[in-house]
Amino acid sequence: MSDGREQWKSKIGFILAAAGSAIGLGAVWKLPYVAGTSGGGAFFLIFLVFTLLLGTSLLLAEFIIGRKTQKPPIQAYKELAPGTLWYGLGILGIISSCLILSFYSVVGGWIITYFVRSLTGSLTDPATGDYGALFDSIISNHWEVGAAHLVFIIITILIVQGGIQKGIERASSIMMPSLFIIFIILVIRSLTLDGAMEGVAFFLQPDLSNVDGETILFALGQAFFSLSLGVSIMVTYSSYLGKQESLVRSASSIVGLSVLIALLSGLAIFPGVFAFGLEPNEGPSLIFTVLPAVFSEMAFGSVFLSLFLLLLLFATLTSAFSLLEIVVSSTAKNNPKRRRIAAWVGGISIFLIGVPSNLSYGILSDWHIFGDIFFNQVDFLVSNILLPIGAFLIAVFVPLKINRQDLKEELLRGSKLGTGFFQAWLIVIRYITPIAIMAAFLNVLGIW
Ligand code: PFF
Repeated sequence: MSDGREQWKSKIGFILAAAGSAIGLGAVWKLPYVAGTSGGGAFFLIFLVFTLLLGTSLLLAEFIIGRKTQKPPIQAYKELAPGTLWYGLGILGIISSCLILSFYSVVGGWIITYFVRSLTGSLTDPATGDYGALFDSIISNHWEVGAAHLVFIIITILIVQGGIQKGIERASSIMMPSLFIIFIILVIRSLTLDGAMEGVAFFLQPDLSNVDGETILFALGQAFFSLSLGVSIMVTYSSYLGKQESLVRSASSIVGLSVLIALLSGLAIFPGVFAFGLEPNEGPSLIFTVLPAVFSEMAFGSVFLSLFLLLLLFATLTSAFSLLEIVVSSTAKNNPKRRRIAAWVGGISIFLIGVPSNLSYGILSDWHIFGDIFFNQVDFLVSNILLPIGAFLIAVFVPLKINRQDLKEELLRGSKLGTGFFQAWLIVIRYITPIAIMAAFLNVLGIW
């Protein structure tokens, strides 16, 4: 390219990396535990509707901003709305990304810990036979999980400092397809456990009588979280995308893959929860207690468990790359030396912010802020407040600051869809998305 900016080597590279950002702990770790605490099937149904309608539209909106300007978020907002405060949306994205990565890397560390222990056989046969107690004892071992947390951040830094193309694209194209395959094997095992159908019913049979404002806000937050929306990450990624690619096709692939993995994840976890007489509402530890139990019922279970944890670690890393990438690309421009410095300074600061989250499950478990541990409050702040606010502002920004003709051209270029699709998309972005987000907030605040 004439200005020296890297572009994606291939369209599939972009899709894999954007899907790599989307698919991670959100679908595999967060969705099952939030569904487990917030109404099961009803939660999943609302999450699906939000993902398909609002999520897809917002993904397209972020793609349009990135591809149109070919710039990272802050510069992109400045170019589209010069002389205004809209670039604050880019800053909000950086703050949200740092906060997400602070607890995301803690869970990444848990996965590393579980992976290492699975290799030494200390997961499949715990002395107590109780996987929940095992989780508690592992998590409260600060030095072990602290070291794993640091290792997770360092891997993320090393890949991100290498530059977008070499690092992320190459990694994603091997990791994602492997994860699908092992997930399918796992789902088959789960569904054939005794009592599996109770879990399937919990996950897929909506009981709308349990739905309240909080369920709706959580489902909204989960939909944005699992598509990496509201943080301008998708603006960053699409800024590297060539002008000729169809945004609609890319967005559909990413949403499709992400929904599929969320579905597989629920079908892997909930049958296990019910088959082993566990509680679906146990919170962030859910997959760590259920998965070793399900794998222990499988031939070559310990091998499969290690493989699964390794691939989950890859999926988690591809999301983590994207979170650090937004911090780095906003500060480093295209200068490799500044990029390295930004990756290290950003990454280590995020690690430090994450330390209290890590300790929330150990020595800081009694330290409550507004009635809950630090870890849960950071997760709540980001997923249910900052991401919806970011998404709301992006939905307002796009139709306000990009003219209709440009929007239409960017949206439809390279696709066979016509004006009807554009108009429907515009209605969702301009009206439905902001109203739905406002309504969810007002409801939870008891105002509406
Ligand atoms: N979408 C990622 C996941 O579901 O694991 C998490 C995430 C990444 C959220 C990047 C937000 C984000 F900007």
